[in-house]
Amino acid sequence: MTRRLSAWFALLAAATLLVGCERPPVDTVQRGYRGTGMELVYNPRTLAAMAPLNVAPPLPDPASPDGPKAKQVFKNVQVLGDLSIGEFTRYMTAITAWVAPVEGCNYCHDPENLGEDKKYTKVVARRMMQMTNHINADWKSHVAETGVTCFTCHRGGAVPRQVWFKPQPQELRANFIGDRDGQNQASKTVGLSSLPYDPFTPYLLSAQTIGVGADTALPTGHVASIVHTEQTYGLMVHMSEGLGVNCTYCHNTRNFKSWEGAPPQRATAWQGIRMTRELNNDYLVPLTPAFPPNRLGPTGDVAKVYCATCHQGAYKPLNGAQMAKAFPEVLALGGARPTDGLPAPQADAVRAVLFFATGSAALDPDQAKGLLVLVATLSAQPRATVAVSGYHSASGDLAGNQALARQRATSVRDSLLAAGVAPARVKLEKPLQAEANLVGEDPAARRVEVTLK
Ligand code: HEC
Ligand code: HEC
Ligand code: HEC
Ligand code: HEC
Repeated sequence: MTRRLSAWFALLAAATLLVGCERPPVDTVQRGYRGTGMELVYNPRTLAAMAPLNVAPPLPDPASPDGPKAKQVFKNVQVLGDLSIGEFTRYMTAITAWVAPVEGCNYCHDPENLGEDKKYTKVVARRMMQMTNHINADWKSHVAETGVTCFTCHRGGAVPRQVWFKPQPQELRANFIGDRDGQNQASKTVGLSSLPYDPFTPYLLSAQTIGVGADTALPTGHVASIVHTEQTYGLMVHMSEGLGVNCTYCHNTRNFKSWEGAPPQRATAWQGIRMTRELNNDYLVPLTPAFPPNRLGPTGDVAKVYCATCHQGAYKPLNGAQMAKAFPEVLALGGARPTDGLPAPQADAVRAVLFFATGSAALDPDQAKGLLVLVATLSAQPRATVAVSGYHSASGDLAGNQALARQRATSVRDSLLAAGVAPARVKLEKPLQAEANLVGEDPAARRVEVTLK
């Protein structure tokens, strides 16, 4: 009797252990020489479930490039001005289908006045157009000729299905659990392992070195601590899950660190990490003040991009469908920097006026040159101080505008401090509203003034 009972228990234990495993059949694809273990394991059921998620929508017929340009007809086109009216309308229709198919044009537009930038969604969408063009023009090392469109991330919804926020810090009241230090809790972001569940802030926002091993035998100043090691594995789990592949897709598992014998996809992935980091820092983070609070994360940060935002479980987004190619006229607008087309900075010995891109608080290097004369005055007059005032436009959300104006003023102050001006000599003033402008977004309103006192 006891023997039978213990057999039952053994069976139960085995069944419990196997729950974590996948039910057969499982397909194996060999990627290296036989016997080297360079194999990819696919589950046909997972593949079948993933397939409908990665289908590209039908594309519209081409439009005529002839006739007047959008910038000759419309009031406020800062990105798409060089398209013909036909091409422009075709693109507006396409982005509506990709981002707001249910809500339609009014998701971004005030139907009374299409040229105005009243809705935050339009301001964000313009920056997204610049970001998409930039990815296609300047990150061919990652996206090749496949490229991306709004659909790559959005898939018919205003918020992409897969984005990340910084997690809420653990509340450390009187509890028995103690400080989990951002780990030891099964988390979806790292494949339900107990690895640090935010491996994204260090690598896809900051540029912490990825690695688990030192280059030297003794601890001679290398940085690969246990925390870095765990974070590296956390990121790798996300990369594998995001692309629906095993580690062998990018590594020769004989030696994870070595690039020798690693599949070429590892180099593409390396570029992908840099690209993702740049998209977050140059496009999404500066847009933070544009978003309403309900779109922000638990710590007030903006939704950010990681590998899964574009890939969504496929080795190439949409299994390699080349949607961007159907919009050669938009691709041709290229990777113009968002600060292209801003007025030149104004500068003299007592005042500098610097301009900013829509929704952005980043001070462009060309604009920063406008500070040079003033910095020279300050070094010649050691008692002089400067006041820094950020202006914002009259349209849109007031609180968001003020926050943005303040961030812009802070960027300018940081730039002055970096040029060697003592902090006590730079005074930040309250954000000011620029004179009301009726014709949509006015580049002259997005400015910071620095005045000698
Ligand atoms: C996802 C947001 C979004 C949706 C949806 C959208 N638009 Fe736009 N629209 C924009 C942005 C951004 C601009 C400015 C482009 C630029 O600066 O080059 C714009 C500009 C325009 C303009 C130029 C207005 C002017 O006078 O400057 C027209 C006309 C227009 N859109 C029509 C439409 C129509 C029609 C639809 C629906 C089929 C539509 N849009 C859907 C974001 C959107
Ligand atoms: C690399 C991925 C990516 C691409 C490509 C992309 N977006 Fe986005 N988009 C995002 C992320 C991330 C957000 C922030 C999510 C949120 O709104 O909370 C966002 C937000 C938006 C929003 C605000 C939606 C809302 O309701 O808050 C609009 C509008 C938008 N994108 C339009 C576009 C358009 C138009 C394009 C193509 C020209 C585009 N996006 C391309 C990632 C992308
Ligand atoms: C999509 C490609 C890709 C996949 C899948 C992938 N890796 Fe990586 N891995 C990389 C790249 C690229 C680097 C180097 C990153 C860098 O230096 O910026 C890297 C680095 C590493 C390192 C650090 C090596 C060092 O220098 O110390 C380890 C360890 C590692 N990966 C393990 C794994 C494991 C384990 C898996 C599976 C869970 C995995 N990787 C899946 C691309 C990948
Ligand atoms: C902005 C969208 C986007 C993001 C974000 C992105 N990728 Fe990609 N990735 C692509 C596109 C598009 C391709 C297809 C390029 C091609 O056709 O060769 C691709 C291709 C790849 C490939 C090559 C696949 C193959 O078999 O040739 C790898 C590996 C890869 N990505 C890894 C990553 C990793 C890792 C990350 C996150 C760190 C990442 N990607 C983030 C868009 C993206």
